[in-house]
Amino acid sequence: MSNKIGRNDPCWCGSGKKYKKCHEEFDDKISEYEAMGHIVPDHSIIKTPAQIKAIKESCKINIAVLDEVASKIHAGMTTQDIDDIVYKKTIEMGGTPATLGYEEYPKSVCTSINEVVCHGIPSDDVILKDGDIINVDCSTILNGYFSDSSRMFCIGDVSEEKRRLVEVTKEAMEIGLKAVKPWGFLGDMGEAVHEHAVKNGYSVVRQIGGHGVGLEFHEDPWVSYCSKRGEEMLLVPGMIFTIEPMINMGSDKIYTDRKDGWTIYTADKKPSAQWEIMVLVTETGAEVLCY
Ligand code: MF3
Ligand code: CO
Repeated sequence: MSNKIGRNDPCWCGSGKKYKKCHEEFDDKISEYEAMGHIVPDHSIIKTPAQIKAIKESCKINIAVLDEVASKIHAGMTTQDIDDIVYKKTIEMGGTPATLGYEEYPKSVCTSINEVVCHGIPSDDVILKDGDIINVDCSTILNGYFSDSSRMFCIGDVSEEKRRLVEVTKEAMEIGLKAVKPWGFLGDMGEAVHEHAVKNGYSVVRQIGGHGVGLEFHEDPWVSYCSKRGEEMLLVPGMIFTIEPMINMGSDKIYTDRKDGWTIYTADKKPSAQWEIMVLVTETGAEVLCY
């Protein structure tokens, strides 16, 4: 890390304190990890208290939107109906859906049913059926700050094996969360998630991961759930990223729909589940900002 900032200059974190009395020691500690060969975060992805406050406001909307979906989701509705709920609630609360127009994505939410791994596009033609499992992935922009989280819903009478996939995926995310600690590594989380999935006979999608988030929709680091303890980026207080493993009942092989360019399917057409939370690394552990 390059410390171009003078020791008597105001700290980059916005505290108003002199750098030497604020984050100098913190930056020196990061530099030591870097010298040992670790991947370390730069200032652009370490959020200041003011930024964290603004990001939390965005998260409040994202949580409320998912709560609204949870209260209304049912067999017989279309995934476009879910999109309508998300759009309406987000706008009502003063936000904007982050996916709408993002790299030409056409809708306000991703709705991924059964063998759809992620990025399913809401449609009038897709009707929720009894026995479906669906991931609803919401993201919000408020005053330029981003939030992103997703939940699974079981529609009506879901088979025991699909319910178990949904449950184990949630557990994997929670076990990953417990492994998030300041001055630990992203791989501590990734390996914990992976272990739990594999122990239960499932596989973890390798090509798609989580991401830093807050000032942009997708920031560094890219977050793998097939990583190793002690590897990947060093975690320091102020970092915010998603834990969003995609876990497959069958093989980890996936492919992208050729026609819409977005929808990702399991190659073996077996079901896939995903939960996504947004996590802030704190001085003592981790805080869930969005779920
Ligand atoms: N919410 C998704 C994520 O977790 C966003 C996918 S981008 C989209 O990163 F355009 F497909 F929506
Ligand atoms: Co995400």
